[in-house]
Amino acid sequence: MMKLTDEQQAILDGAQGEVLAKVMKTLVMYGETFGAEKMVPVTSKYNHLVTSFGLKMLGPVYELMDKLIEAGAVSQQKFSVDPRPVDKNVPANFLQNLIFNKIMYSKQDFYEEQLNKLGLMEKDAFTCACYLDEVGNVPKKGEVLSWAESSAVVYANSVLGARCNRNSGIMDIMGSVVGYVPYFGLLTDEGRKATWVIRIETEKKPEAQLLGSAIGMKVMEDVPYVFGLDKWLGTELDEAACSYLKDFGAATASNGAVGLYHIDNLTPEAKELGEELIAQDANVYVIDDAELERVKNNYPIMWKDKDAKPKLCFMGCPHMSLEQLKTWTDRVEAGLKEAGNNKVVIPTVFTASKPVLREFEKTEYAERLKKTGVITSYICPLMYMNNPLCGKMPVITSSNKLRTYTTSRYYTDDEILVQITKGGK
Ligand code: F3S
Repeated sequence: MMKLTDEQQAILDGAQGEVLAKVMKTLVMYGETFGAEKMVPVTSKYNHLVTSFGLKMLGPVYELMDKLIEAGAVSQQKFSVDPRPVDKNVPANFLQNLIFNKIMYSKQDFYEEQLNKLGLMEKDAFTCACYLDEVGNVPKKGEVLSWAESSAVVYANSVLGARCNRNSGIMDIMGSVVGYVPYFGLLTDEGRKATWVIRIETEKKPEAQLLGSAIGMKVMEDVPYVFGLDKWLGTELDEAACSYLKDFGAATASNGAVGLYHIDNLTPEAKELGEELIAQDANVYVIDDAELERVKNNYPIMWKDKDAKPKLCFMGCPHMSLEQLKTWTDRVEAGLKEAGNNKVVIPTVFTASKPVLREFEKTEYAERLKKTGVITSYICPLMYMNNPLCGKMPVITSSNKLRTYTTSRYYTDDEILVQITKGGK
């Protein structure tokens, strides 16, 4: 049984109203399921919510939101939220637009209104990469969070050293509204120990999304401690390393269920505690180039016609960083020049948060990227593809999360570059 403080018990007993009592009860039951013995305060400045889309069938969510708003049970924390599901910049035909706006996401405006009342950070705080400086929801080391978006949770835990479990949607709002979360798993020192040792022995820098996928599929929900990646990323969390870890982590979290990883000599806890973080009798997984090739070759191809010409390319799942937008502008330009083309030969969408896109627009890169024909958007590609019409389209991506949850086909960054600038395989 969980031991509550007087204040927590009072909330549970209804001192702050019936709605908060129910929320507290749900959190207590959630914690007890995982053996938590206490609740601890949520200490981050902001929260992040995973449910960003006004899907018609989410009636119960809107009802709950209404109840919270009516009862004045709004969080003390402002929050960011996952990306919006539609953007008119992204190519879609008449039927697709009809399905998006009138059928699937017809409650979008209504839901966004609710989010505003509950405490959205700013009107453009719709992104899964909320932890980037431009967005500003950057938790500090040791802070306790009530987040659910898996790619954001793994980044916050691993790269920022914050503490958060892989909560489910709605549970994220509840923890924030009450201000407490159950203490178990990745909130505890013990739960942050690595039960897997990963040794990177590749001859070239491993592709972030492929490496993350290999590790995720091997360790599932366990914590890996990775040796040998500092050789490729360096020992400082600079912009390039953070972008790499963002994509790597999202792949570990979606191809497995990783919520925290440690990179030797690089991530904050590994730098501080080193091998003390490795549990006794940890398993070992050695990764070389052949292993990554094996993993890649095992991905199923979900296209009806395996030889179809790609109709769309999505990059930026999770949302791209400013550094990635700039690097990719250079790469696309160079690729086009080599191929003798002026514009990309497959409609290509780079997704990033609006705050990052705003900063990007201030640089000379924005105009250059536009000239290549690449479109930028704040959309979530997964939301775009999650309907029967788009699901049938041959879409390519270098996101292993998008590959896992949709019919899109995975290619490495280099392969994507060739496809969008030259065409062909
Ligand atoms: Fe982000 Fe949507 Fe991908 S939330 S991680 S862009 S599936």
